[in-house]
Amino acid sequence: MPIPIELKCIDCGKTFPLDEVRYTCDCGGLLDVSRDLEELREHISRQTFDRRLGGRKLADASGVWRFREMILPVPEDQIVSRPEGNTPQYRSSRLARWVGLDDLALKHEGENPTGSFKDRGMTVGVTQAKQLGARAVACASTGNTSASLASYGAVAGLPVVIFVPEGKIAFGKLSQALAYGAKTLQVKGDFDVAMRLVQEVCRELDIYLLNSINAFRVEGQKAIILELLQQRDWQPPDWIVLPAGNLGNTSAFGKALYEAHQLGLISRVPRLAAVQAQGANPFYRSFAGGFEHRERVHAETIATAIKIGDPVSFKRAVRAIEWTNGIVTQVSDAEIMDAKAQVDSAGIGCEPASASSVAGIKRLMQEGVIKPGESVVAILTGHLLKDPGATVDYHLNQLEGITPAYANAPVVIEPTVEAVRKAL
Ligand code: F0G
Repeated sequence: MPIPIELKCIDCGKTFPLDEVRYTCDCGGLLDVSRDLEELREHISRQTFDRRLGGRKLADASGVWRFREMILPVPEDQIVSRPEGNTPQYRSSRLARWVGLDDLALKHEGENPTGSFKDRGMTVGVTQAKQLGARAVACASTGNTSASLASYGAVAGLPVVIFVPEGKIAFGKLSQALAYGAKTLQVKGDFDVAMRLVQEVCRELDIYLLNSINAFRVEGQKAIILELLQQRDWQPPDWIVLPAGNLGNTSAFGKALYEAHQLGLISRVPRLAAVQAQGANPFYRSFAGGFEHRERVHAETIATAIKIGDPVSFKRAVRAIEWTNGIVTQVSDAEIMDAKAQVDSAGIGCEPASASSVAGIKRLMQEGVIKPGESVVAILTGHLLKDPGATVDYHLNQLEGITPAYANAPVVIEPTVEAVRKAL
């Protein structure tokens, strides 16, 4: 007997069948993929997922589809997968000391096929697009979503249209979209303008929208948490800390933890800490005001991935913070880049937005919110090579308004041994 599953409005509770092309409710509310957790609880356990570890078939090898009962019911031969996930949890005693913790782990989602966590949502979103018979797919993006969609769309044989803010995305990401063959539209405006445009275009031109407003993307990104819990033998840490921009990931983490708890996979829920860049902090401002108002800002930050002033998944993310007794904090661009230099020089490496999680931990430690004896997992969301420009400019001390604390500038030398001796 299949477990009942449908799309459900998080505001008014209205439901829609899974095969209806729909991103929001008639009332304007965001949708969840909603299943009967009581019933599902009878069918799955930790062992269901543990047995699949090391399995060779695609649906077991993927760090998303391994958890398929909690993701999306779809025939296994119709899954569009690279496969994704199976990302490592790194530890670095040097980095732990730098933030002031004994127990710090870094789950590196930048080690997914296209270099960011977006592949987790995209394998599910593009699989669903195929199920629905979509003729084309689209998204607005600060770069990583578009790189991921361009790749998965190409694998699925679907035309891809992406909307990126002109001149404001990192080169690694733009090059991926072009290379994977997506029709790339550089919108004269910021991400928030591109996001509004793509929603209108998808409605008018019958293109399937694959931003994280799409509930199936959120289902896939839940697997970051499920895989993390499985890697820790289902013993949750005290805190999970992540960067927050359009708030799709924060939403997914909250839903994953809520469901894992309801299903008996974990016996307590860790606290989420969502970290924003100070210049792109609408969620932080809303949190500071007790979530009484939805704040919007004009976003400005060096962490271009999270340069977002009007996040679409706002309400789902508020719920995630409430479900997990979570918090929202903010960090400056200088804190982000110094934290990145620390992650990088530990031999791990990440893109600027990702380092905001580590910068956030350091700040929360200083504020006494996270305690020294607690266990903390930082999510690194994107690969070091996504934004080489920001890295090189940091080490050359060429970032406006930032004095790098850990610069490692290259040295120009004459081609002689003597010059090398001097430089060393
Ligand atoms: N980290 C990275 C590297 C990202 O690319 C993003 C979002 C985030 C964090 C924030 O995640 O939006 O779910 O809160 N990038 C999107 C994009 C917006 O278009 O690639 P979020």
